[in-house]
Amino acid sequence: MAADWWKASAEGIPSIKTEVPGPKSQAMHEKTSRHYRGLSGQVKLFPVCFEEGSGITLTDVDGNRFLDFSSGIYVTSLGHCHPKVSEAVAHWAKKLMNAHDFTTPVKEKLIEKMVDVLPADLNAIQLYSDGASAVEAAIRAARAINGKHEFISCFRDFHGKSMAAVSCAQMVRGDVYSYGPTRAPGFYMVPRPNPYRPTFTKADGTIDSDAYIRFYDEFIQEGTVGNVSAFVLEPVQGWGGSIFPPDDFFPKLRDYCNNKGILLLDDEVLAGMGRTGEWLAMDHWNVVPDIVTLGKSFGNGFPVTAMVVKEEYAEALDKISASSSYGGNPMACAAALASIEVIEEEQILQNVRTVGQYFSKRMQKMKEDHPIIGDVKGTGFLLGIELVKDKQTKEPFTEAGKLVYQKAFRKGLAWIPAGHILRMSPPLIMDEHYAEMGLSIIEESIAEVEKEHGY
Ligand SMILES: Cc1ncc(COP(=O)(O)O)c(C=O)c1O
Repeated sequence: MAADWWKASAEGIPSIKTEVPGPKSQAMHEKTSRHYRGLSGQVKLFPVCFEEGSGITLTDVDGNRFLDFSSGIYVTSLGHCHPKVSEAVAHWAKKLMNAHDFTTPVKEKLIEKMVDVLPADLNAIQLYSDGASAVEAAIRAARAINGKHEFISCFRDFHGKSMAAVSCAQMVRGDVYSYGPTRAPGFYMVPRPNPYRPTFTKADGTIDSDAYIRFYDEFIQEGTVGNVSAFVLEPVQGWGGSIFPPDDFFPKLRDYCNNKGILLLDDEVLAGMGRTGEWLAMDHWNVVPDIVTLGKSFGNGFPVTAMVVKEEYAEALDKISASSSYGGNPMACAAALASIEVIEEEQILQNVRTVGQYFSKRMQKMKEDHPIIGDVKGTGFLLGIELVKDKQTKEPFTEAGKLVYQKAFRKGLAWIPAGHILRMSPPLIMDEHYAEMGLSIIEESIAEVEKEHGY
């Protein structure tokens, strides 16, 4: 079980003392947002201002205390300000903040640790400071490995906001659209299996992974110039709504890539480092990708990310310099090293598996009990509840998504909206008691929305 350093600060949550967002939050938000523009839907729908975080608890400037079901944004997975991580960063903040890409004692230890916990073949590493830069580096690495220049990614995956990362994603939504009218040349998108809304099914209605692979093959023949370097995929769709593919999809895609000389680029920025109960989400299917990106939980709040390739491709990394202003700085290495050590020391993977089962069971029951819950999804602590107007037609119920998000926030749950799919990424240290508390708040909010809409 996870250590209980966070329990004292969680005593008595949620504790809501003012209307929320409270008066101080409202004033602060109004002043800041006059100049700080382009805020996410999450903030616009609930402009609360946070002042402090400890473990699974967030406190706002009005003194209201919230249960955290978002981990920042899939980031502070070991809890806000984990003492070991904070102390490790503080140590290097006083000793050596930056040494370009020179080796430092803490980088030596981190690299050793990463090689230890990642699948055996994945051991050629570069460090960056945000997820998009790691994805960008992964795309450069793929080109350096096989000299090809086309990339295939999937509908509703997300990989960040740099040009290549944006080119791997849907471009008709908000901020991503502003990057231009088209994706970069050589980037294509295809559907991937969504068990609740499949594109290709077998006669019995179940998802047909082979049909997806056949489609990819035809697409590559007809729609590309035959120079496909890599498939770029999230193992589990995060922004898309915590959507896990069927178990046979990645093994089949791995075989296909092997047969065609195409690399498998696995973007684990969101799903990796324990969130699903394994170090990598891809470990669920015993698939070893050729290239992996890590971020978010990797530094538990400190901006540090990684791009890792298989040993057989290590030399290609020498062609793409790892040098960056902040990548691999001592504070970053310390945060990542401490985070990995905490996952081991506090048996975080085990906690995620155990409490994750509780989440799944409880969410299944919610689905049975509520007419607007069309589907519940997730493994470990990467979770989603899909709201629909009608279980038969599966019409998305976006308005309900917004209302449930706001109602639950008002009751003291800090979390993430995503249209009609309610996404949850609680800190991985959470126990069943607080898992139940969060789900109860959500269920109560769903019931209220159902009532207001005449269900
Ligand atoms: C799967 C995935 N890849 C990459 C990114 C980009 O990471 P960052 O926001 O750190 O650039 C994200 C961010 O949400 C992500 O979810």
